[in-house]
Amino acid sequence: MTTSTPDAFEDQFHHVALRHERVWVFIAVALIAVLFLVAVWFVVHDYGLVAKTTQFYSNPNTPSQLAEFQGSGVKQTGPNSYDVYEIGRAWSWTPGTATPLTLPVGAHVTFYVTSGDVLHGFEVQGTSINLTAIPGVVGHVSYTFDKPGTFYIVCNEYCGAGHQAMIGKIIITGAKQS
Ligand code: CUA
Repeated sequence: MTTSTPDAFEDQFHHVALRHERVWVFIAVALIAVLFLVAVWFVVHDYGLVAKTTQFYSNPNTPSQLAEFQGSGVKQTGPNSYDVYEIGRAWSWTPGTATPLTLPVGAHVTFYVTSGDVLHGFEVQGTSINLTAIPGVVGHVSYTFDKPGTFYIVCNEYCGAGHQAMIGKIIITGAKQS
């Protein structure tokens, strides 16, 4: 009798402890799942990676074949605002690599970016422009070039043997704005 009481207590204790452990494991897993979903949502919708994509296409080459992406790829939309239709291909940017993109200082530019083959990273050094060029998807990002100078478009996602040479130029001309 005297030995059964501590045993019963211990059994009871383990039973309760086990229940607490299960509850807290569940809470921890639920918390991780919620944080993971919030992180994914943030990256997709807010961070600019594939943010503000306009359409998905069944044929990944469709966007690069659209009329807007042909020719110079530059369309003036206002006194000093432009739409630029940018295609990344292994291993060049159009416009940018063969022909630099030249715009006046103060230009407000919306880049529409896609890929003609594989994933590329569209990053313009010295600016906040950084998004992934995805075949079948058009992502867009806006930026105002307040300073004159040469800005390099670099590919920041490994895309094959010529990745490190996938460089384009944006030349902003004119005097610095006050
Ligand atoms: Cu394109 Cu790396």
